[in-house]
Amino acid sequence: MLKGKHIILGITGSIAAYKAAYLTRLLIKKGAEVQIVITPSGKEFITPVTLSALTGKPVVSEFFTANTGEWHSHVDLGLWADAMVIAPATASTIAKMATGVADNMLITTYLSAKAPVFIAPAMDLDMYRHPSTQSNLKTLQSYGNYIIEPASGFLASGLEGKGRMEEPENIIAYLENYFSAGLSYAGKKVMVTAGPTYEKIDPVRFIGNHSSGKMGYAIAEEFARRGADVMLISGPVNLQCSSRIRRIDVVSAKEMCAVAKEEFLKTDIAVMCAAVADYAPKDYSETKIKRNGDLTIELVPNPDIAATLGVIKRENQILAGFALETNDEEQNAKSKLVKKNLDYIVLNSLADKDSCFGYDTNKITIISQNGQKAEYPLKDKKEVAKDIVEYTSLLIK
Ligand code: C5P
Repeated sequence: MLKGKHIILGITGSIAAYKAAYLTRLLIKKGAEVQIVITPSGKEFITPVTLSALTGKPVVSEFFTANTGEWHSHVDLGLWADAMVIAPATASTIAKMATGVADNMLITTYLSAKAPVFIAPAMDLDMYRHPSTQSNLKTLQSYGNYIIEPASGFLASGLEGKGRMEEPENIIAYLENYFSAGLSYAGKKVMVTAGPTYEKIDPVRFIGNHSSGKMGYAIAEEFARRGADVMLISGPVNLQCSSRIRRIDVVSAKEMCAVAKEEFLKTDIAVMCAAVADYAPKDYSETKIKRNGDLTIELVPNPDIAATLGVIKRENQILAGFALETNDEEQNAKSKLVKKNLDYIVLNSLADKDSCFGYDTNKITIISQNGQKAEYPLKDKKEVAKDIVEYTSLLIK
């Protein structure tokens, strides 16, 4: 359940920090990738050396490394994570989280995190039951965070009561429970095409386009996060995908088509996100073409991969496409939906600011076979991917 999951483990200054080492060990054993972010007072209780030895990664604590000036991006970390777990969470950290006092790396990471956040409080019983702490926990809960209630028992203060950080095994069980409930695509095979295709002219030149692949990669990651077995067929892009995704790299439209046709036979859901070149040079020159006055390159149409799959689509398969338009957006998207026999089409327009090629954000409208439209505001592509994956789940027969 936790295999391949990216977990940020936030550690704060409580005596229960010693349990964080064991929690780290358990997460690693479950196959998770763990990045530790520790507060300055957390380091008083457990050393970064112990923790980095367990995770195999440097522990992050400061905004930058003092001697090299290397900047640690809380935003990148926040986006990387599938979950953030703060264990132990002190009363002070809980208060800062509730009010957004971003004076250390852990809080800035928390404020940037898009993933679910799990908070395991650890403190003395009186601190825990104080109205301030209780009201901060309620606030955090109302923001969608998960509180892993502390247990009752012997406390470091010598008192007995509620405030003991939940045992690492129980925190793991809590996380596994969360992820298994969210795995609505478990057992489903999903194929996603992404990126541009390059059509070779000679050994040096090609015809391509500006597609960055970000949207398709985000969709593939989101399906995988929700338990699908994902095959990503990728054109040439400068992106990495997580190890839980199977990926085949291709260059030309013809190569992408051959792989997609074969994969589609084993697929339940296919999302065609690639910006496939519509044409390829008729002839390929084995040697570099020399400059010599005007040059005419004859182009021939490439196969329409989505339309090819639309012809062989079975009753229980879902086939989705994208339409990138500059004008007459809706009308063009609808005619593509029909022509390619898609179940839905995701429309995005170059007329929308900060959308499409190269941007991290996108603004989409999903149009279904019966012409119904779902319009979404401008969002980060990772959030857009969540909307598309959620929409797809409504169509599963
Ligand atoms: O016709 P147009 O290229 O605008 O259609 C876009 C949709 O069709 C996208 O889903 C794209 O991935 C897919 N497509 C394809 N093969 C092509 C051209 C487009 O799969 N040759």
